[in-house]
Amino acid sequence: MREQQVLLLKKSFEKILAIREQVTELFYDHLFLANPGLRSMFRNNMADQGEKLITTLEYVISHFKLLPNGDYQLEHSLKKSLMNLGNDHKVVYGVKSAHYNKLEDSLLWTLELALGSDFTVEVRQSWREAYSEIVKYMIEGANAETSS
Ligand code: HEM
Repeated sequence: MREQQVLLLKKSFEKILAIREQVTELFYDHLFLANPGLRSMFRNNMADQGEKLITTLEYVISHFKLLPNGDYQLEHSLKKSLMNLGNDHKVVYGVKSAHYNKLEDSLLWTLELALGSDFTVEVRQSWREAYSEIVKYMIEGANAETSS
């Protein structure tokens, strides 16, 4: 990602954080309406789950690091924890790679609703790139033999 994209990502995420409870509720409502089969995978309290998701995003988004070539990438230290999270998603929760696209659709839909006219083409693209960076490591972890 480029610097401008990371800035857009962080700026838009600040607005999301200010209304985090409403956003996560909307997000899971959309996910389950669009994909009713996913509902039974979630066994715990959805407000708590929403908070876990947003806290993880918050942590990850604050850890994009500038490389010498001017690009931004997730800090290496995050790779292992995202790989473990991805492995748990596969082994413990039964998440498949195709599910990540469904989650992305609901995330973009929710961001558009929450950010309104601030959700420009550039902001949307920044979120797509950040999401794919996160998911890249989660799927790598899911495909690894163990999560040690
Ligand atoms: C960027 C992608 C994702 C992130 C950052 C993320 C984050 C998290 C976190 C932090 C937890 C809590 C883990 C724990 O308590 O140890 C969790 C649980 C869970 N996630 Fe994800 N997740 C992602 C994608 C997905 C996808 C694509 C699915 C598939 C539908 C999914 C389904 C679940 C389920 C079923 C749980 C357990 C919920 C429960 O215990 O009720 N996640 N996720």
